Amino acid sequence: MEFDIDRLIREEIRDLPIYNPGKSPEEVARELGVFGCVKMASNENPLGPSPRAMEAMREALPETHIYPDGNSVELREALAGKLAVEADRIVVCHGADEAFDLLAFAFLNRGDEIVVGEPTFTSYELAARTMGATAVRVPLRDYLQDVPAMLEAVGERTKYAVLCSPLNPTGTAVNKVEIEEMLSSLPVNVLLVLDEAYVEYVTDPGHPDSLTYLEDHPNLVIARTFSKVYGLAGLRVGYVVTSKPVRDALEKVKLPFNVNRIAQVAALAALGDDEHVAHSRELNRRGKERLYRVLEETGFEYVPTQANFILVKNGPHPDLFRRLIENCVIVREGEAIGVPGHVRITIGDDAQNDMLERALRAISAGS
Ligand SMILES: Cc1ncc(COP(=O)(O)O)c(C=O)c1O
Repeated sequence: MEFDIDRLIREEIRDLPIYNPGKSPEEVARELGVFGCVKMASNENPLGPSPRAMEAMREALPETHIYPDGNSVELREALAGKLAVEADRIVVCHGADEAFDLLAFAFLNRGDEIVVGEPTFTSYELAARTMGATAVRVPLRDYLQDVPAMLEAVGERTKYAVLCSPLNPTGTAVNKVEIEEMLSSLPVNVLLVLDEAYVEYVTDPGHPDSLTYLEDHPNLVIARTFSKVYGLAGLRVGYVVTSKPVRDALEKVKLPFNVNRIAQVAALAALGDDEHVAHSRELNRRGKERLYRVLEETGFEYVPTQANFILVKNGPHPDLFRRLIENCVIVREGEAIGVPGHVRITIGDDAQNDMLERALRAISAGS
């Protein structure tokens, strides 16, 4: 008898897609023969890691034969101080991505449901499907998550609803009224998962501070990350802030040493590096204003963003993704992230934005 994976693999896993992270400059060089591309596709921090984090990592290297602190105590306490919440509301994770797996492991039975926007970041649905649960997808309205429609989609089997704010891939954020409507209308035993991976980039002064809702809403789960404004995507470290009972449930399913020693010390140092965070936010704010101007001058429509990326309509250039690659700029193709007819462009540093500006001007001039 031949080896047959289909006899082994769980039914829920068989048809799951393998996550496709988009093209790297090396792939583009290999496959398309275009060399020297800049990558403005994965919403990473163009400034790199905080210098203090790099120093802390170097110092920690001789200790890497010792297991890390399984509870990330020092980092949790620093986060608790920074966010003004109790440390036992926090779970440090292997990237925010791990939080979505932990939620699925802890809360989803076969046949359960979660409610998400469509499109949204894909990890919520992929994690749910591994447990045999399904994601009820609620289409966006004018690039915004449709909170009333999401509430209507909540049913008997719903375990949690996910709001991503700012939303990947549109860059739009939910407002105070919407968060409050969600929290006051969700049944008490349905969680609200708020993915705030990009929250540090928000420039809207009216944006709600989600942490203030924790006290009154034990069903609120906030996920954040060190991958974006802190510039540590390569280390994989994020965290959840929630109520103690939810925290305990997540602790039960996480790996004993889920966040490595180097990641913990780097995150701790990055958290204390206010200068790097301020510089990163300012670079993004300036880049955003500049790219808005360039997009307007070159006739491309875009969605105003609260994050470090901008969703741009292809408009009269259906092959915009390809044309940008030909001009040495790799962005994220909309089709792959649920927004056909668009590209998602990460805001870069000055040199990357120069390349993008040149490319957009060339494409718009038809050259
Ligand atoms: C909305 C959103 N949430 C979470 C993540 C994952 O973050 P992490 O790198 O912490 O796993 C991303 C990464 O791009 C994201 O866009």
